[in-house]
Amino acid sequence: MTTSTSPTAFAPGTGATAPVRVATIGAGRIGSSHTTLISRHVPDAVVAAVADPVDGSADRLAAAVGAGFATTDIDDVLGSTDVDAVLITAPARSHSDLVCRAAAAGKHIFCEKPMAVTLDEADRAITAAEDAGVILQVGFNRRFAPGFAAARRAVDDGRVGTPQLLRSLTRDPGPWQADPARVPQWTIFLETLIHDFDTLCFLNPGARPVSVHAFADALIRPDAKSSGHLDTAIVTIAFDNGAMATAEASFSALYGYDVRGEVFGSAGMATAGNGRTTDMTFYGAAGVEIDTARRDTILLHDAYVGELSAFVDAVRTGSAAVVSGSDARTALQIALTAIRSVETGRTVGIDEVA
Ligand SMILES: NC(=O)c1ccc[n+]([C@@H]2O[C@H](COP(=O)([O-])OP(=O)(O)OC[C@H]3O[C@@H](n4cnc5c(N)ncnc54)[C@H](O)[C@@H]3O)[C@@H](O)[C@H]2O)c1
Repeated sequence: MTTSTSPTAFAPGTGATAPVRVATIGAGRIGSSHTTLISRHVPDAVVAAVADPVDGSADRLAAAVGAGFATTDIDDVLGSTDVDAVLITAPARSHSDLVCRAAAAGKHIFCEKPMAVTLDEADRAITAAEDAGVILQVGFNRRFAPGFAAARRAVDDGRVGTPQLLRSLTRDPGPWQADPARVPQWTIFLETLIHDFDTLCFLNPGARPVSVHAFADALIRPDAKSSGHLDTAIVTIAFDNGAMATAEASFSALYGYDVRGEVFGSAGMATAGNGRTTDMTFYGAAGVEIDTARRDTILLHDAYVGELSAFVDAVRTGSAAVVSGSDARTALQIALTAIRSVETGRTVGIDEVA
């Protein structure tokens, strides 16, 4: 079903200065946020279309942002000559297939993490984009958060020296109220910690992960552990430049959304992330307080705008994607190795999962 929402709001351009015409595939939580950010904060792009198989979802989002059309059929978007690029914000297990289909249709691709959930799928997605000559950027937003980007600059310009110890953590805001039965198995590695695995590689540039040891448990919902639910995990990673790293995640931090990174080296240390929504600190009779974020879309607002702007710039200029399919494959390989470690209870070499 295709419905017209606000055709006059969308004016396809032509030539080098024309805006990039973006279509969203998956009008859920992050798809709605990304689409709204594009429409408000990325002047070189317009929202051409929204697609979602659930009746009404695409219509609502398309109407809210003044998109050209809404549809429940992804092929309407892939076949449209009014669409230059797609944002893939559907559930994780559909990503690699959608990347391949979008590439075959000649659309540039911004794909939310994880780009794939197996290495074969990842390879197919990377090859499809290369063969089609389209941009493929993956949604590792932390690289665009100002503090994380500054930490990487401190590594690049030598202030950190040789990285020796790294940390990255993601604690989702609590209380966690989802139904564990609706959370796909291994989500904590494939969808949560995958950000941290990418962050650790980003802050240790040029190094390759070589082995992984992971522990995971259901500390928030122990009643669901017997059905495979995991909501708390810690992962250690050894890199081939000698650096050692830890990543940790929890689905429920009662004090707010907590995303932090650290790289300690031979010459110094850089840290990033503090959970604050503003730099105001309140001092009162009861003590000292800061305001913390309850949503990723608030804490990482600037990072989301940054990654979407970078994608649109890459499409306009033909430059390489800032976060590539290969980067996504590396983070996925760490995630799959961590899963193997949990399954076997031992340290697993990265090449054992190939
Ligand atoms: N980078 C980040 O910070 C971040 C944050 C949140 C979510 N994500 C990722 O984004 C993806 C979506 O997460 P979400 O929280 O928005 O999920 P969601 O369930 O809120 O939304 C998914 C949407 O996709 C639609 N959909 C289902 N199958 C589809 C298909 N085959 N084609 C197109 N649309 C389809 C659903 O109807 C739904 O509207 C996940 O991979 C998740 O890990 C990334």
